This record gives sequence, C-alpha cells and structure tokens, in this order.
Amino acid sequence: MKKLLEKIDYNNIPHHVAIIMDGNGRWAEKRGKNRTFGHEKSIQSVRDTINGCKELGIPYITLYVFSSENWNRPKKEIDNLMHLFQTNLKIHLKEIHEKNVKIITIGKIEKFSKVIQEELFFFMKKTKYNTSGTLILALNYGAREEIIRATKNITKKVCNGLFSEKDIDSSFFQNHLYTKDLPDVDLIIRTSGEQRISNFLLWQSAYAELYFTNILWPDFRKKDFFEAIISYQKRKRRFGNVE
Ligand code: IPE
Ligand code: IPE
Ligand code: MG
Repeated sequence: MKKLLEKIDYNNIPHHVAIIMDGNGRWAEKRGKNRTFGHEKSIQSVRDTINGCKELGIPYITLYVFSSENWNRPKKEIDNLMHLFQTNLKIHLKEIHEKNVKIITIGKIEKFSKVIQEELFFFMKKTKYNTSGTLILALNYGAREEIIRATKNITKKVCNGLFSEKDIDSSFFQNHLYTKDLPDVDLIIRTSGEQRISNFLLWQSAYAELYFTNILWPDFRKKDFFEAIISYQKRKRRFGNVE
C-alpha cells in the first residue's frame, strides 16, 4: 500500500470519481450462494472506497447503487435488495456521517419505500454541513430519465415565458439536472469486466476518463481504488484541444 501511495500525484487528484459497482451477483454465484449474498458483501468495498477518497482528498464520489432499469430484475431479487436497503441503510449512513462526509442522492427516490426515503432525508439533512467530501448515491437513477426530466422542466419554463430559447445553453441545461451543483465527472470506474456505461451520468461524463477492471465489486479494496487513480493520472486529457 505504501508503494502505491508513493505513486500518487497529489497535484492531479480527480475532483469527481463515479463508480459502477458491478459484479455482486456473479461474485455470489461463484460461491454457490444466491445473488443477494453478493449485495450484502459489497459494503466493505464501499467503505474502502470512501476511505480512499478521504485519504486522497477527492471531494466528490458518486456510487451507482440502483439503476432505473434494475427494476426489471426478478421480483425476488428486488425484494431482497429493498429489504437490505431498509434494514442496513441507517447504520451505514451513520458511519458515513461519522467520517464527516456529506450525503446526497440523485435519481427518483420517491419510488422507494417511505422508510428508505425518510432515512435518506434524515441523513442528507444531518450531513449537510459535513466537510470531508461529498458522497452522491445514485438511487433509481437513469441518465436518460434525468435528461428527459430536465428537458420537461425547461420546456415548462419557456412555455410560461420565464425564459426564452436563447437562454438555453450548456450551463443552463446542466442546472436542470440532478447534479446541478456538482462538477463534471473526471473518472468513471466500472468493476466486473463489463465495459459499458449502463445509463450512468451520460451528460456529466462527456469528458470522463474510463477505467475498467475485472475485479468483482465485493472484492474491490482500497488498493484497487488507488490503482484506478494512478491509471487516471497517466492519462492525457485534451478536451478536444491539442497537447
Ligand atoms: C451490481 O451487481 C449491483 C446492482 C446492480 C444492484 P449486479 O447485481 O449487477 O451483479 P452481476 O453484474 O449480475 O454480477
Ligand atoms: C449497472 O449495473 C447498475 C449498477 C451498478 C447499480 P447493471 O448490472 O445493472 O448493468 P448491465 O445490466 O450489466 O448493463
Ligand atoms: Mg451487473
């Protein structure tokens, strides 16, 4: 770990890292268990990632917890996942609060149970003034839904005469997304070997670096997070410009 930390360039720390935490089901199936066991065992990976962000001073981390398409899974898996959220959310959010990290959510959380929503609101309020970074939980999140939602809101405002078509530019649009107060994503990490975006932060990751690893999410540890950061720091970001 010490050797890895020596490779980190503290002058080039990404501002916003987003993670597609994938491979829980396969991790469990490899062990002859049901998929929910993999979801249960993913908490240490979240813990390690948040600690890694704190150690490096990464101010924003977004975790893809549940996508708008994940509702299409078998009812049994959805029920188990919701039960897991319902029973464990409080203890984990409390732990994050104790790390002085602010918690916010993106996505349509109104589709979750009242209990889950209340826990989320409670901890968003409680952690509002925390100063050791921001954890963004993507819950029932889908980038297409987010873009459509923004478009509808903007259309309403234009129809009501509050704004005109001329007012709509990139930053105006950005201000209508769930992520309106957040910086663009610098790095997307996806575990489990899949190399796709799966409807995650399409607008915000327009110029993000992508990092894929075969490690399944429940096996992902702080050293793996640091490897991803080191890889990111070797990239040459051009944003359409030349050297
Ligand atoms: C990610 O792991 C967690 C969620 C999407 C909720 P998966 O459940 O997708 O696990 P795999 O990809 O099927 O192994
Ligand atoms: C993306 O993983 C969603 C989350 C990690 C929450 P999926 O497992 O749902 O994505 P696909 O279906 O493989 O694209
Ligand atoms: Mg998956």
